[in-house]
Amino acid sequence: MLITIPSILSKDDVKQVRAHLDAADWEDGAKTAGAQSREVKRNQQLPPTSDTAQTLGKFILQKLTSDPLFLSAALPAKILPPMFNKYAQAETFGAHIDNAIRVNPLTQERLRTDLSMTLFLSEPEDYDGGELVIEDHYGRQTVKLPAGDMILYPATSLHEVTPVTQGARVSSFFWLQSMIRSDANRRILFDLDQSIQALSDSIGANDPETVRLTGIYHNLIRTWAET
Ligand code: NI
Repeated sequence: MLITIPSILSKDDVKQVRAHLDAADWEDGAKTAGAQSREVKRNQQLPPTSDTAQTLGKFILQKLTSDPLFLSAALPAKILPPMFNKYAQAETFGAHIDNAIRVNPLTQERLRTDLSMTLFLSEPEDYDGGELVIEDHYGRQTVKLPAGDMILYPATSLHEVTPVTQGARVSSFFWLQSMIRSDANRRILFDLDQSIQALSDSIGANDPETVRLTGIYHNLIRTWAET
């Protein structure tokens, strides 16, 4: 399931984040690539343990974890600190699948990457190319979102960033381990939660049938969740 989470950052937030990023020291993205992806990765990254990355990462996580749509879609157990990358002229990241297990560089904690996130920090008109292309069961999905919007997609997907031919594409990217390992089960919970929200608005959260469905939602989480 691919879901766009709109306006994680306001346009003002994006401006502030970009001011810090544009003044930061970037390094070769190959440093954090695995053996396969090193061959196809041509971009720049902020060192994950740098003060700028940590400060901006915390800010993004604060915004993200107060977003009801994100929480409903991801059901996060553990989230890795947001990282930052930049694709300038001719930079690209060819087709790859992200590593299944990653270590939090701040805590050394291991986690399984169930979901990948890209938060766009450049406006689409500020660069040509640089699309995030994700292969899923429904075919190739091409993603290029307004600054401040985020895409959430299964980390099991083959994906790539097409070459930037003009301007620069700046984004934040990171992963999470969900309480619900199965993408299919997470999808069911998301759909059920969206229906419960809609019913709460139309017939009320305390209508007996809304209450029963809310109970079913929690009992499914009880059955499927790993914390
Ligand atoms: Ni990737």
